[in-house]
Amino acid sequence: MTRLKIAPLHPSLGAEVAGVDLSRPIDSPTREALSQALAEHLALVFRGQTLTPAQYLAAASAFGPPMEQHYSQHNMPDFPLIGMIWHRNGQLPAEQWHTDHTNRERPPAATILYGVEIPSAGGGTSVANMRAAYVALPEDERRRLDSLKTYNSLDSGKTDTRQEDREKYGKTIEHPMVRTHPVHGSRAVYFHISKATHIEGMAPEASRAYMAELIERMIRPEIVYHHVWRKGDVLVIDDRATMHRAHGDYDRSQSRVLWRVIVEGDRPRLV
Ligand SMILES: [Fe+2]
Repeated sequence: MTRLKIAPLHPSLGAEVAGVDLSRPIDSPTREALSQALAEHLALVFRGQTLTPAQYLAAASAFGPPMEQHYSQHNMPDFPLIGMIWHRNGQLPAEQWHTDHTNRERPPAATILYGVEIPSAGGGTSVANMRAAYVALPEDERRRLDSLKTYNSLDSGKTDTRQEDREKYGKTIEHPMVRTHPVHGSRAVYFHISKATHIEGMAPEASRAYMAELIERMIRPEIVYHHVWRKGDVLVIDDRATMHRAHGDYDRSQSRVLWRVIVEGDRPRLV
């Protein structure tokens, strides 16, 4: 087994993992240790990695089976399980707090990003600890959220979604607004404000307003790890207990290219 060195990056979440070369096969005790570390720290950073697309996919598989991504126009042609995050092919940075692909019955356990080209300043990724956000809520609001469900589909505001992706991934999927982490056993607030068409029993506008207000109130600097990218970083985000967002505060004449893999998780449930 590889000897992992795990150093926290922020008091609430995030840890840097040293001692792993992700270009090499990862043995099963190391996979298990990484899975436990992700459940505990919610964001893992591996620095200085040099990966081909095939090596990257193999490394990402340590966290679960890679899933198809629904904005297929941004997938790498020869490796369609890798999505390219790149403003030069028309994508805007996802600056709204969210968790990925909630329109899936089994949404990703983790989102994995590899820094291929990094601007000289800005363009970071922030990750919020939604387990801590849940714990910080008043008791009556925790009970309220425990009882609520969202209905999810593809983002309503995106106009460039391919018809084939709409057909494959556009059906309505229900999720609890609080989910229990399958590895850690803790609860976290779980929703995607622009993929949730509405909260059960609430009108779409009221649902959106409540989710926006929750984000505003819950996501405080104390529960946010801000990742400043360096070329060669791999950032693994636990989608079961976090939200994340990109920062578009970089010079668009510079390149920012991240390769994204999402890996399948369990069906969200509250136990
Ligand atoms: Fe995302």
